[in-house]
Amino acid sequence: MGLGNTILSIEGLKVHFDTMDGTSRVLDDVELSVGEGEVVGLVGETGCGKSVTAKTILRSLPVPPGRIIDGEILFLGNNLLELSREEGHQVMSKKMSYIPQDPMTSLNPVFTVGEEMGDLIRWHGRRRVGPLEFMGLRRRHDNSLAKAVELLDRVKIPASREIIKRYPVELSGGMRQRVLIAMALIGHPSLLIADEPTTALDVTIQKGILELIEEKVKEEELSVLYITHNLGVARRLCDRIYVMYAGTIAETAKTEDLLDNPRHPYTSGLISSIPKLTGDEFKGIDGRIPDYIDPPSGCRFHPRCPEVMEICKQEKPELVKVGGGRLVACHLFSTRGES
Ligand SMILES: Nc1ncnc2c1ncn2[C@@H]1O[C@H](COP(=O)(O)OP(=O)(O)O)[C@@H](O)[C@H]1O
Ligand SMILES: [Mg+2]
Repeated sequence: MGLGNTILSIEGLKVHFDTMDGTSRVLDDVELSVGEGEVVGLVGETGCGKSVTAKTILRSLPVPPGRIIDGEILFLGNNLLELSREEGHQVMSKKMSYIPQDPMTSLNPVFTVGEEMGDLIRWHGRRRVGPLEFMGLRRRHDNSLAKAVELLDRVKIPASREIIKRYPVELSGGMRQRVLIAMALIGHPSLLIADEPTTALDVTIQKGILELIEEKVKEEELSVLYITHNLGVARRLCDRIYVMYAGTIAETAKTEDLLDNPRHPYTSGLISSIPKLTGDEFKGIDGRIPDYIDPPSGCRFHPRCPEVMEICKQEKPELVKVGGGRLVACHLFSTRGES
């Protein structure tokens, strides 16, 4: 909550994609930070650029077709975008971890859970190793299975000794997601990035996974960037929320301030469009996320905005402080002329 140090800080991030139809200007000056021990939500409709943001941080953006046009991603003092792939991997592998959206496709089908986890436990944070060293290490420490069992116990997988012998196809979606969370916690990361980790699961299973994440965040003193399209989930989990619209940050504030007293018309629309805060997908704001090849001029939200003014069509609003640690990018709040 702005206390202590910033662990992740993104400034002016612009990401484009080269497509058959032209340049798709997806991220347009994204700004975002996560403090030490802070759980930060990134919310917005499907297609607004949440996963592109996560992938850019994690250096897993496909390049091409993706292109990082501009920006800085500072993680523990390093600008990730200036490091080579190898250096970036070194910095990140020990301290940053990831829970993917789809547990079905994120485990390798040809390995048992124990084999996959064992490899990660052995290789965690190491440089690339040659084949001989690989074989040697593989034989040498085999407390890695015991460690895998212990990790599965920590994410409350019943019969963990049996589960490590199974292949991913033999597990339910919820179990696979628990395995992936266990794997994400190997090596005690400082920052966890979770990209809609419950979206692919049944509602009752989602609940258990959320409880687990909540518990682990407390126990492991993690900083978290939690991506979701579900405001109810964000309310429950996050200290602070960023609202994203069409590749731009519309607003950020502490969770309660944002949900109880939204400032940006888009945030208000999102909140009023969900019947209850546990609801699913956003509905009800007229229109949809714009085309990124020819995005609206000025504020990208202006064609959908109930409070649109002339300036909104011409100038992109900057994120400005509006007190209480809040930032809003909307001409209703622009302090123009002050720079
Ligand atoms: N590899 C890609 N090539 C072209 N466009 C992409 C690619 N990946 C993402 N995009 C585009 O970026 C936009 C944002 O996508 P994404 O970040 O996945 O949204 P979400 O907020 O739902 O996670 C979408 O319009 C998507 O089509
Ligand atoms: Mg996504």
